[in-house]
Amino acid sequence: MADGSRRESWASRLGFILAAAGSAVGLGNIWRFPYIVGENGGALFILIYLIIVVLIGYPLMVTETAIGRSSKRNPVGAFKALAPNSMWWLAGALGVITGFVILSYYSVVGGWTLSYIFRAAAGAFEGVDHEQLFGDHVGQTWAPLIWHLVFMALTIGIIAAGVVKGIQRWVQILWPVMGLLIVLLIVRAVTLEGAGEGIGFLFLGAEDATVTGRTFLDAIAQAFFTLSLGMGVFITYGSYLSDRDNVPGAAASVVGMDTGIAILAGLVIFPAVFAFDGDPGAGAGLAFITLPGVFAEMPLGGLFGTLFFLLLAVAALTSAISLLEVVTAWLIDQKGWTRAKAAATLGVIIAIVGIPSSLSFGAWSGFEVPNIGNLFDLFDWIANSIFLPLGGLLTAIFAGWIWSTRSTMDEANKGERGLKIGGWYAVVLKYVIPIAIAVVMVFGIVDTFV
Ligand code: PHE
Repeated sequence: MADGSRRESWASRLGFILAAAGSAVGLGNIWRFPYIVGENGGALFILIYLIIVVLIGYPLMVTETAIGRSSKRNPVGAFKALAPNSMWWLAGALGVITGFVILSYYSVVGGWTLSYIFRAAAGAFEGVDHEQLFGDHVGQTWAPLIWHLVFMALTIGIIAAGVVKGIQRWVQILWPVMGLLIVLLIVRAVTLEGAGEGIGFLFLGAEDATVTGRTFLDAIAQAFFTLSLGMGVFITYGSYLSDRDNVPGAAASVVGMDTGIAILAGLVIFPAVFAFDGDPGAGAGLAFITLPGVFAEMPLGGLFGTLFFLLLAVAALTSAISLLEVVTAWLIDQKGWTRAKAAATLGVIIAIVGIPSSLSFGAWSGFEVPNIGNLFDLFDWIANSIFLPLGGLLTAIFAGWIWSTRSTMDEANKGERGLKIGGWYAVVLKYVIPIAIAVVMVFGIVDTFV
């Protein structure tokens, strides 16, 4: 056991917070959140989403981190350590599989962001049909695949370097870059003529917004995806956290940063979309079709377009590394592989699994699942609407009923002074979260297909 016997830990509590918030803040905030909000009519959806974040997301983040820190293991090993001789390790295995699936297509989108940095810089958005530009790019066979591989190679490089020298070092470099980029972009967006309408959409909503079972499932899926919950990222990152550090406070910072950046991304995108008569409900193409149209028309649009896609790529990278870390930690802990070998082998396999997602916009676009979409949408739907909530459900049941709320709370509340979780948490963990997730999943799935 070369690496497995000596487990690394974060060099500081801030290292954990930045890495965890780097995982949370990603395509989910800047690409997915605005278009899901746009499809669901704005403010009312955001309200439902925020309630889910506070009531389900935050307690689950504390729970996952406590499971990880107590066991000092990857998700599979963590359940094995806390509930020996039971089937609970399967809940951890579901997390590892989910990480595998999400990273496979996440890296495809990561590749698009890389290629769009160069397009924006080269002025490729001017005088063209942006839907066609996007369709032509993602519809090709080779170029998007090569960008997907480049993105995966960057991810592997960081993970192979280790927890402190790889993950912590890079998130400490990349966070200030993200912060600066987003501030520049907001200043540009809210000073556009006609920006007010977009701000109104974000905070007041569209008049014709309707709420159905699907709305709640969309909100839960978005909450889990954007907070990186339900698949063991926080078990894994928590396993590198020192016993002295305060968990409830760190989790609160991460939830706050993630929610803050999602709203800020909305403040970049909706003012720009409304100022140039775009459609906020344009779907997954919002960031890649509508925004390039906006950049083409705005003063210094080439520069701001380049900065926007750079922001998206950096945010995606700090999330992708957490996805690869979960599966890598599993191979290191459970099978005794070295870190570099585990990261490289898994990265290559995951890149191959991502190929169908990439091809689903071109050569394989004929394959469609009713009510879901192409292969890419299918991967996204299974992972976000089924696997992540299911993972969250199992984690809550495990911590609330098997490991016990007492052990979970003792673990979460040990460590330095600061925020502590109180008695409300036990009730939420045992009853509110399992019931809420189960109900939303049943109604949401029925709503999706009938
Ligand atoms: N939270 C990331 C984002 O918002 C995606 C992610 C999901 C990362 C699950 C890790 C685990 O883009």
